[in-house]
Amino acid sequence: MIKKKHIVFLTGAGMSAESGISTFRDSNGLWENHAIEDVATFEAFERDKELVLEFYNARRKQLFEVEPNEGHNLIAGLEQDYQVSIITQNVDDLHERAGNKSILHLHGELRKVRSTVDERLVYYWEKDVNVGDKCEKKSQLRPHIVWFGEAVPAMNEAIEIVNSAEIVVVIGTSLQVYPAASLMDYAQPSAKIFYIDPKPSISSSGTVTVLSLTASEGMRELIENYL
Ligand code: OAD
Repeated sequence: MIKKKHIVFLTGAGMSAESGISTFRDSNGLWENHAIEDVATFEAFERDKELVLEFYNARRKQLFEVEPNEGHNLIAGLEQDYQVSIITQNVDDLHERAGNKSILHLHGELRKVRSTVDERLVYYWEKDVNVGDKCEKKSQLRPHIVWFGEAVPAMNEAIEIVNSAEIVVVIGTSLQVYPAASLMDYAQPSAKIFYIDPKPSISSSGTVTVLSLTASEGMRELIENYL
């Protein structure tokens, strides 16, 4: 059997922008309307559980109103000819719904919650999370989200995946949040690296080809002219 090439996608909020989900740092992005320290830290959760739960409840509800966009679908279509791995900073489930099989969520998942006393107790959750919703050890449930100041447990696995890729495609991220932003540095020197973003934060170089396009436009261009 011929071994399929391994293509790895590193996706950020811009991947889901064409589905109608706001990014974080664009104008009118989520962090323009909510302060990170009010909704995306454990301290914020301890201070005002209702506010933090409401922020993530609203975002979880939005998942039922959006669909994968053409960019997600084009990535899913590559499973035919490639070994496809996705490492996403996104907490939505649009790569799953587009049909990809190997998806690692670096920053957690909106459709899961976990215990506040035992991080191994993770549960699928589709409705709102309220103050008083408890895990089996009777502690308050929290969103299964990596908040600022918290470790990124999937990072080592992500590094191994990037390190084994022949092609790395970065899509829709401002490359501002570490450690996620450092992942493309772990690509093999022989790997081809592409970065698709309408407002890219780096320029093309000997190692990276930048396509200044939206996720769907960039995926079309990548498939037509580079793969
Ligand atoms: P940002 O909001 O920082 O960056 C979004 C990127 O998407 C920008 O570079 C935009 O130019 C680009 N973009 C906008 N529209 C696009 C489109 N239609 N197609 C492709 N790209 C588009 O989002 P991230 O880099 O994902 O973490 O942010 C990283 C992390 O910061 C998030 O995972 C989140 C946030 O705080 C947590 O909540 C833990």
